[in-house]
Amino acid sequence: MNHTITVRPSGRTYTVEDGERILTAAIRQGIGLPYSCRDGTCGTCKVKKISGAVTHVPHQEKALSKEEEAEDWILTCSSFADTDVVLESNQVTEQGAIPIRKMPARVAALNRLADDVMQVKLQLPTSEQVLYHPGQYMEVILRDGAHRDYSVACAPHMVRDSGSPMIELHIRHTPGGQFTDHVFAAMKEKEILRLEGPYGSSYLRDESAKPIVLLASGTGFAPIKAIIEHLQFMQNPRPAVLYWGGRRPQDLYMDGWVRQRLSEMPQLRYVPVVSDALPEDAWQGRSGFVHLAVLQDFPDLSGHQVYACGAPIVVDSAHKDFVERAGLPADEFFADAFTTEADKVHA
Ligand code: FES
Repeated sequence: MNHTITVRPSGRTYTVEDGERILTAAIRQGIGLPYSCRDGTCGTCKVKKISGAVTHVPHQEKALSKEEEAEDWILTCSSFADTDVVLESNQVTEQGAIPIRKMPARVAALNRLADDVMQVKLQLPTSEQVLYHPGQYMEVILRDGAHRDYSVACAPHMVRDSGSPMIELHIRHTPGGQFTDHVFAAMKEKEILRLEGPYGSSYLRDESAKPIVLLASGTGFAPIKAIIEHLQFMQNPRPAVLYWGGRRPQDLYMDGWVRQRLSEMPQLRYVPVVSDALPEDAWQGRSGFVHLAVLQDFPDLSGHQVYACGAPIVVDSAHKDFVERAGLPADEFFADAFTTEADKVHA
């Protein structure tokens, strides 16, 4: 039996079909509920249930605890509606109504950005009008039907306005990983991949004028690069500061690219942060955890928006500390956490 989901305070409504998860139906109908992993791992889709009944499938305790469930918080990615349901989410906007599509993509170029990071450029069919928001990701669908999620590392206009649309992904090698072993050892130009997307709710909110903190760890830089390119293309004057963290300087694998943008975008600042520099690195810059560097510089984040992407520990710590210690409104934190297959619970 179908049920109606209402999202407050926007009042937007949509239908969830029998056997369909609440988030799946929202994505299908272009309702911009927050989410990241879609697998009960990250907790990004957690929202308050105002009324109605849902049934959860197995999910990680760190994404939604028993106590939170008892207080009527739900994971939309891991729940079915048993009745009509009313939810609360301030992040729902008019944006997000970009249709999800499947499409083939041909490997056009492979460039090593670091020992363990590959830039993969994928040629898309010219017949497709490929639309996405800066900060969203695509699924690469593997032969066995499994998928790997990668943020698009270039701004939408570069794809939308091109007669030869091409997207860029930054893929980190996970030794033993089925897909990334292939990318680093065997992938060749002209290979055909299958993509599905765009997905993700952690995209730039163009309607806001608040100053922006961009927080990246490792290849979490990919969607941040797309956001910077978009801000530059739109000539958006919003102040933005990028904090990019890595263990060693070489983890900041497009440092030169960022510095080039600084010379072109007076509203952009850049703070590279390294946590485990070795003596031979001769690192002179900021050290420590990247999100703590933000807190040192911005003890009050109440007037900011934050876009974060990277390792779950970085994203989770940033969310907690920015909200609890620096007064960032919880709904001004937009994040994608890269979860690994080992992190996931498959329902
Ligand atoms: Fe639901 Fe990650 S999107 S837990």
